[in-house]
Amino acid sequence: MSEATDPTSAGTDVPWWRRGVVYQVYIRSFADGDGDGTGDIEGLRSRLPYLRDLGVDAVWINPWYQSPLADGGYDVTDYRVIEPRYGNVEQAERLIAEANGLGIKVIADLVPNHSSDQHVWFQEAIAAAPGDPARSRYHIRDGRGPDGAEPPTDWASVFGGPAWTRLDDGQWYLHLFAPEQPDLNWDHPEVRDEFHAVLRFWLDRGIDGFRIDVAHGLVKDPTFPDLGAETQQILGSPRKANHAHWDRDGVHEIVRGWREILDGYDDRMMVAEAWVAPNRLSLYLRPDEYHQSFNFSFLESPWDAEQFGTVITEGAAAAAEVGSTSTWVLSNHDVMRETTRYGLPNDTNWRTWPVTGPVDALDVDLGRRRARAAALLFLGLPGSAYIYQGEELGLPEAWDLPAEVLDDPVWERSGHTQKGRDGCRVPLPWTADGPSLGFGDGKPWLPQPIGWSDLAAEVQADDAASSLSLYRMALALRRRWAAADEELEVLDLGADVVAYRRGSGMTCVVNMGDEPIDLPEHTEILLRSDPAGDGRLAPDDAVWLR
Ligand code: GLC
Repeated sequence: MSEATDPTSAGTDVPWWRRGVVYQVYIRSFADGDGDGTGDIEGLRSRLPYLRDLGVDAVWINPWYQSPLADGGYDVTDYRVIEPRYGNVEQAERLIAEANGLGIKVIADLVPNHSSDQHVWFQEAIAAAPGDPARSRYHIRDGRGPDGAEPPTDWASVFGGPAWTRLDDGQWYLHLFAPEQPDLNWDHPEVRDEFHAVLRFWLDRGIDGFRIDVAHGLVKDPTFPDLGAETQQILGSPRKANHAHWDRDGVHEIVRGWREILDGYDDRMMVAEAWVAPNRLSLYLRPDEYHQSFNFSFLESPWDAEQFGTVITEGAAAAAEVGSTSTWVLSNHDVMRETTRYGLPNDTNWRTWPVTGPVDALDVDLGRRRARAAALLFLGLPGSAYIYQGEELGLPEAWDLPAEVLDDPVWERSGHTQKGRDGCRVPLPWTADGPSLGFGDGKPWLPQPIGWSDLAAEVQADDAASSLSLYRMALALRRRWAAADEELEVLDLGADVVAYRRGSGMTCVVNMGDEPIDLPEHTEILLRSDPAGDGRLAPDDAVWLR
């Protein structure tokens, strides 16, 4: 019997990450165990049973290291210390062990492109004189023009404004992100050695894998050329091979060094956050490099059958070509939540995070309906699926956060023209009542919008028609029907329909058109995105059949 006809063989003979469901924990906003208004490790530990019941295989935890949180923890002061607001290393070890005990792997987030400006290396660098070797772990250079008053290059920061900030002594340092995130110099052997040691530190503590932040960064063109009028956009770097500071060939040698270390341990993995051209992505997935790389095309696709069809076909093919599987991503901590995204007209540039919120253009019900259909679309595909916390609750973007609570550097760096990413980072609602809807005893670091009581996990758990119930059912069915093999046949059921059949015999159909369609021949309906759906498949509705 082939694997395809034996659905019970669900992925036992393949590495877990190839078909796993990874739940992304934005630790600051997941659950607050000590009542200080910020999520933490103990909060996460207390909610592990929820994640087990949801049916995930792994959690990826956003950076938990010591940090001033100038960019939500992507500004690390010490990679071997847990941020005290989140806990400590002993608690992290206990979390890993307990999660593993429940069958859940734990993936840490490693940030190698830059450190915090509070990191001891950067403090040492700026205390030293220009030309001192202590400066060479970063990119610190003389400026141009009279008195070096112009930055060394015209490079722009991803968060807005120039990528260089001037020190008191006149030199400039590079930060592709916020000024609190100076870029490390990866040509420096100490930088390479330090990250090897950091990988070992966490592997020795049982971590199951790493999500590598800005994996297409790290290496810079040593000639530091100007880039002209090129602009940067968050999560949208220009996807050019060997750009002056993105996707340079030199990055692969660094990755191979990391892979060698991981291969010295059992069953560990790393997944790259690499915003590169599709034809360059496979380079990151060579057998001695990353195990996986995020495929962001899915979350970038507008609600359009043809475009989703292309994304699915190309994503699966590109991963298969290098012997990997694709990672399907609907949302994460950097993008507008899908419930809101799909309720906006297709041509909305949601990356600009409108300051007042696109109130007039938003169709709330449509967004919800489409988000549910999108869940079945991506959870049925072969490969691994990444779920961002709150996605299973159908949380919308909280775009009416008052200016005074905004924390994302994008807000300041854009001169208050873009609100930034806080709207998808609001603390989770766990219970219908309580001061922070069960998030914790303190005042949450971002306020939860009015109306989120109805979206609380506890409320949804008891409602068979809720988004949470849909995700639970989908993940349970997925083990049997979608994670049992890696076969995919894209079906042509009309221009407005996305449909595919899996090796297990499961078929997924999503109607992205304006008219109801007939269901293809089937013996059983496994799951519908609209629990009230009956008979034909309504617009913006999805179904799993066999
Ligand atoms: C990645 C992270 C994002 C962060 C940036 C800088 O894109 O996902 O949240 O701001 O890197 O570290």
